[in-house]
Amino acid sequence: MYRFAIIGLGNIARKFAADLKLVEGATLTSVASRSQERADAFAEEFHVRYAAGSYEKLFEGPHLHAVYIATPHVSHAELVKMCMDHDIPVICEKPMGINLTEVQELVGLARHKQVYLMEALWTRFLPSFQAAKRHIDAGAIGKVEGLRADFGFKMGPQTRERITKLELGGGALLDIGIYPVFLAQVMFGPPTTITAAARFSESGVDVDDTIVLEHEGGILATLHCTLLAKTKTEAVIYGSEGTLYWDELWYKQSDFTIKKDNSEEELRYVAKPRGFGYAHEAQAMVEDLRQGRTESPLWSLDDSLTLHTTLTKIRELIGLKYPME
Ligand SMILES: NC(=O)c1ccc[n+]([C@@H]2O[C@H](COP(=O)([O-])OP(=O)(O)OC[C@H]3O[C@@H](n4cnc5c(N)ncnc54)[C@H](OP(=O)(O)O)[C@@H]3O)[C@@H](O)[C@H]2O)c1
Repeated sequence: MYRFAIIGLGNIARKFAADLKLVEGATLTSVASRSQERADAFAEEFHVRYAAGSYEKLFEGPHLHAVYIATPHVSHAELVKMCMDHDIPVICEKPMGINLTEVQELVGLARHKQVYLMEALWTRFLPSFQAAKRHIDAGAIGKVEGLRADFGFKMGPQTRERITKLELGGGALLDIGIYPVFLAQVMFGPPTTITAAARFSESGVDVDDTIVLEHEGGILATLHCTLLAKTKTEAVIYGSEGTLYWDELWYKQSDFTIKKDNSEEELRYVAKPRGFGYAHEAQAMVEDLRQGRTESPLWSLDDSLTLHTTLTKIRELIGLKYPME
C-alpha cells in the first residue's frame, strides 16, 4: 500500500481524503494541519493513523510514499520543497507555484533529486476528459479551428480568503482561470501570442479576466474567468466539420456531445462519475510510483512549465502582482 499524507485540511482536502478510499493501492496514513485540534478531528473522521499539529511534524510520523498539498497558493512552493527535502513524492494542488520562477525552481529540484512531483490538474485524468481529447485527436470534428471556455462563480462574504486576499495568492486567474488555459494547452499546445484584459477588486485581486490565446496555425482560444457571476462554465471546441461541447462545469466529470455539421446525428458521451473525481489523479500517481516514474506521462512537469509560462505572461499583461514577488 502506498501511504499518503495530506497537508492543509480545508475544503479540497476532505474531498481528496474521501476519494482516496477509491484508489487501489493507496491509504491515507497521516494528515497535517496548523492546528492539532483540526488534525485530530480530521484523523478521527477519516480513520487516519497519524495527526500532526504542524506541517513540519508530518515527517515525525510513519514513513510516507506520497504527500498531497492542499493549502493556499502562496504556500505551495515552500511546502513542495519541504517534502522534497525528505525525498517524499508530491502531488501539489494547482497552481504549483504563484509564478513561473517558483515552478521552475520546484521542477529543477524534483528533477535533480529524482523525486516524483505532479501538479494536481485533476481534469486531465478524468475518463470523460480523456475521451473528449481522443475524439478530437481522431478528427471527430474535422480540422480543429478554435475553442471557447469559461469558469465563473460569484464571490461573496463566505468566499475563502485564499481567493479574495492578494497576500494569499488570490484572484480568478490562478484559482479558476487556470482551467480554461489548461484546456487550450492540452488541445492546441503552447500559445504563440497572448492577449488579456482584467478587472480588479478593491483588495487588488483580479476578478474578471478575458484571455485570447493564439496557437500554431492561427487557432484561437477565447477564455474567460470571473468571480463576479455564476457563469455556466462551458467549453466548446469547434472544427471544420462539427463541434464538441461539454455540459455545464466542463472541468468536472462532465458529459459531452459531438455534433457533426450537416447531420442530425450526434455522439453523446455520458460520464460515469466516481466520487468527486479526484481518485483518477491519485490512481495515476500510484501507477507512476509503481512503475518508478518521477513524472506523470499525462500531466508532466514540462506541461506545468508551459502552463505557468502562459499564466505568468497573462499576469504581466493584466498587471497582477503579488506583494511577496
Ligand atoms: N482540484 C480542485 O478541484 C480544487 C478545488 C478547490 C481548491 N483547489 C485548490 O486546493 C487548494 C486549497 O483550496 P481549498 O478550497 O481547500 O482551501 P481552504 O478550504 O481554504 O483550505 C486550505 C487549507 O490550507 C491551510 N492553510 C495554510 N495556510 C493558510 C492560510 N494562511 N490561510 C488559510 N488556510 C491556510 C488550512 O489548513 P490547516 O488549518 O489545516 O493547516 C486550510 O484549511 C488551492 O490550491 C486551490 O486552488 C482545487
